[in-house]
Amino acid sequence: MFSPLLLILALLLFIVNTLQQAFLSPLNKIPGPWYTKFTSLPLKWREFRAERTTHVHRLHLRYGPTVRIAPNEVAFTSMSAVKEIYCSGGSGYDKTEFYDMFKVYGRRTMFTTLNKDHHAKRKRILADRYANTNIVKRPSLDGISERAANFVQRCAESVNGSLDLYIYLHSYAFDCVTHHLFHPYGADSLRDIKDEEIMREVTFDDSLQNRLIGYYSPTLHKIFGKILYFFAKPRETPLADDFILGTSSKTDTAPFTLLDRLHEPVFELDELDIAAECLDHMAAGIDTTGDGLCFLMWELSQPSSANHQRRLREELLANPGASFDKLPFLDAVVMEGLRCFPPIPMSLPRYVPDGGRVIDGYSLPGGAIVSCQAYSVQRVDESVFPDPNTFKPDRWLDGMDDAERKRLFFAFSNGGRGCVGKHLALAEMKILLRAVYSKFNTVPDKTMTMTDMEMSDQLISSRPLGQRCLLSFIPINEGANSRSQQ
Ligand code: HEM
Repeated sequence: MFSPLLLILALLLFIVNTLQQAFLSPLNKIPGPWYTKFTSLPLKWREFRAERTTHVHRLHLRYGPTVRIAPNEVAFTSMSAVKEIYCSGGSGYDKTEFYDMFKVYGRRTMFTTLNKDHHAKRKRILADRYANTNIVKRPSLDGISERAANFVQRCAESVNGSLDLYIYLHSYAFDCVTHHLFHPYGADSLRDIKDEEIMREVTFDDSLQNRLIGYYSPTLHKIFGKILYFFAKPRETPLADDFILGTSSKTDTAPFTLLDRLHEPVFELDELDIAAECLDHMAAGIDTTGDGLCFLMWELSQPSSANHQRRLREELLANPGASFDKLPFLDAVVMEGLRCFPPIPMSLPRYVPDGGRVIDGYSLPGGAIVSCQAYSVQRVDESVFPDPNTFKPDRWLDGMDDAERKRLFFAFSNGGRGCVGKHLALAEMKILLRAVYSKFNTVPDKTMTMTDMEMSDQLISSRPLGQRCLLSFIPINEGANSRSQQ
């Protein structure tokens, strides 16, 4: 029977418990806003509003490289913290249950394994397909070049108007990653509207709030799931599921593909394990490379970057036969793009191991959540990245302090759980930029606003708030003619 006395007792117990935790917590010595001693609600609120990254960054600017962001959670930006959290013992500390939100078909993939040993087992199977030696082989690289040519064709068709890069760069990334996963069964969304629909379904997913509610309050999610549907849509990707389930059962894909490797009988993976791993890599490869290129090309198209665009073009036109990875200014542009606009800018949460650890002089108990976020790691230390909010490719060409800069480059994370697709992503980015800027000048379309390109956090990656990025493409001969007429 309901008793007011019981309710009061429970409330008192809750208050005493919260105060005890707040005042006796070993995290109390860590700088941070006062309320982080008691509650994680302000952090969660920012997550729901897709603003976690900028919120945490503001806290770093105010409190320094180590900041408490919730009662049991601390964020760092130093090189030593990155090394300890993500690289100690090879692959750093274990992931938290945050990654449960990314389980596919109820299975854990390489990305969602929490424990180091499970992860190492899966990585041993997959890693060789993403090694640079595999990526730079002809059949793999030719596929990327073909897709870059398809993209350039889209640019050419848009001359005298504009092209929505947000759409077509996601298509490019989708076509490239599925080439690497499934050739000859990869998608062709730059030319085929049916495949474009699959890309749109994944790219325009708006399930952030719904998934966060499911994560933080599974009971609430269960009870109100149907009502919630009208306010916060769950993730639903039937077209992508059909594509993956249909394609991942094929056993005759090219030898360089991931699927070819996953089907090797020695690994004893069942059909659903294989499909889940493929869907995960497809999703990992679309938004990251697509949004990274989108923010970078937007930046290159600003009047303040006119000089960078000109120098990039000069390098490309002077070296038409050079390999995409032997062009220093192109490399500097890509590095600076990923520094200023890391596609995964937010915290990558990990548990402090049992027994506790000391990070940057602060003692942390086992079970505390620690993380670094690329957006801040690549900005906060101004002795390594002076004028951090300005896009300056030249900083990567200055031989001085190069090792320091590279050590603080965190866009692909670091250590054994860093991005396995890094070489593929870099090849896609460089090959596309070379194809485009050898032929075109780009400028923003007049209808675009800065708000359109503000960062909007999703669960693990960020995208432009307006979900559009219209640029005009001016063929370079035409640009030269109009300049000489001026
Ligand atoms: C510019 C593009 C990309 C960026 C910036 C990027 C960034 C990252 C980051 C930061 C992580 C670590 C995430 C974490 O610890 O929570 C990661 C992991 C991963 N990425 Fe990427 N990624 C990119 C492209 C790709 C591509 C093209 C693929 C594959 C086709 C890929 C596949 C993966 C996978 C499978 C993991 C999990 C690795 C593991 O747990 O061992 N990524 N990526």
